Amino acid sequence: VFPDNQAAVRHVADAIETLVRERAAAGQPAVLGLATGSTPVPLYRELIRRHREEGLSFAHVITFNLDEYYPLEPQHPESYHRFMREQLFDHLDIPAAQIHVPPGDLPRDEIHAACTAYEQAIRDAGGVDIQILGIGRTGHIGFNEPGSGPASVTRLVTLDRLTRADAARDFRGEANVPRYAITMGVGTILRARRIFMLAWGRAKADVLRQAIEEPPRDTVPASYLQQHDATEVFLDAPAASELT
Ligand code: F6R
Repeated sequence: VFPDNQAAVRHVADAIETLVRERAAAGQPAVLGLATGSTPVPLYRELIRRHREEGLSFAHVITFNLDEYYPLEPQHPESYHRFMREQLFDHLDIPAAQIHVPPGDLPRDEIHAACTAYEQAIRDAGGVDIQILGIGRTGHIGFNEPGSGPASVTRLVTLDRLTRADAARDFRGEANVPRYAITMGVGTILRARRIFMLAWGRAKADVLRQAIEEPPRDTVPASYLQQHDATEVFLDAPAASELT
């Protein structure tokens, strides 16, 4: 628990920097699992700062994003493809071929094969070294809404009403928020070697208490992180305010 999110993201950025520099020195790629939304923005700003001011190179980094709305064109202002370009990728030296974001614009009958290929691409890259997560007020990680089991894999999911309501402002009205998403599964996430879940603000305090202090169950998918032996949770004081 940190006084503010700046202090928290410095720790997460340190872990990422150590991994990236070690792998680069060994001539091997570092594989990062990335999230969108407001939570990781201060982390991405810090990574961009280290790239610009301290020469931290992402030339040997491979990334896999957690999720994308469906259906949604990659050029849409609220797509996660666009978010990631604007908030991170356009400001780093990462080659485009090393970036992976689930497709939001495929015909329905091609989704299953694309999800299987996404899982295979993660395996082919050697698995995720560090996975960054936020948490939704439904208890989702990625877009694994309540009902998602610990063995779930990359797939098409239906978004929860609360998740669509929380996205309504960005989309200028709930009716414009896509009903579905493609997301890595809880099982996909749990295969990452290290997981860092980040959360800021009072609005996340109740769901964090359930995820951290109550037994793992599929009504709060983030609670399955308790079953992973290298998960760390980074909170500001308001987000931690309901923990005992
Ligand atoms: C985003 C994602 C979601 C968000 C969660 C919190 O890629 O997978 O699980 O992390 O909805 O969103 P924010 O950070 O906007 O509160």
